[in-house]
Amino acid sequence: MPGMTITSISLSISLDGYIAGPHDGPDNPLGDGGSSLFDWWTAGTEPLANDPRFAPPTRSRQVATELFDCGAVLTGRRTFDIARGWGGHHPAGAPFFVLTHSAPPHWVGPGTGGTAVTDGIRSALDQARHVAGDRPIGITSANVAQQYMAAGLVDEINLNLIPVLLGSGVALFANLPEPVGLECTRVVESDGVTHLRYRVIT
Ligand SMILES: NC(=O)c1ccc[n+]([C@@H]2O[C@H](COP(=O)([O-])OP(=O)(O)OC[C@H]3O[C@@H](n4cnc5c(N)ncnc54)[C@H](OP(=O)(O)O)[C@@H]3O)[C@@H](O)[C@H]2O)c1
Repeated sequence: MPGMTITSISLSISLDGYIAGPHDGPDNPLGDGGSSLFDWWTAGTEPLANDPRFAPPTRSRQVATELFDCGAVLTGRRTFDIARGWGGHHPAGAPFFVLTHSAPPHWVGPGTGGTAVTDGIRSALDQARHVAGDRPIGITSANVAQQYMAAGLVDEINLNLIPVLLGSGVALFANLPEPVGLECTRVVESDGVTHLRYRVIT
């Protein structure tokens, strides 16, 4: 039921709050030191059924499988460009919507899983809800997440917390117009990563 769709910020983050280190770009996707944020995806031995490129540690498998089970992804143009459009298909296997001021050529368009959205976060969310059914909608970049948070449109925050201090880079928690209350609803202590889930209290 579209009305029931949960919006969930879903990111790997350093202990000091960065989702990428400094100097990120297509040739340095997670910035200086930032690749450690994604190490957990391949730190195990058994490939994930959803995508054999990933093999998280045993205690991360359920979380990883859930992350793959989203119905749509909302992201920003910087992430899209840095990931080179994921070759047209997001790793989560879901349709993805890219907030941008100008529609990118090539990968976003017919025959890919992507849609460029130039008319704002509410339009992107409406479009994501339309395809997501009752599955969660993942919000997967900092800038876009901040806008959804500020608009009160986030239900849940899922963080894969990595024990590293990046010092600078792309900060997730910035530009909040007012304090936000959270309830911690799950903690999964795994190898090299702690999976945290918070419900946003409105
Ligand atoms: N750790 C993780 O789990 C994780 C996951 C994903 C990404 N990342 C990293 O996150 C970094 C990128 O994230 P970011 O937060 O810097 O940028 P982002 O959210 O991916 O992209 C921001 C850009 O999106 C466009 N945009 C955003 N909101 C818009 C709106 N309302 N209307 C129109 N256009 C809008 C603008 O680009 P234009 O004006 O150019 O269109 C804006 O500069 C990269 O380093 C990436 O590797 C980390």
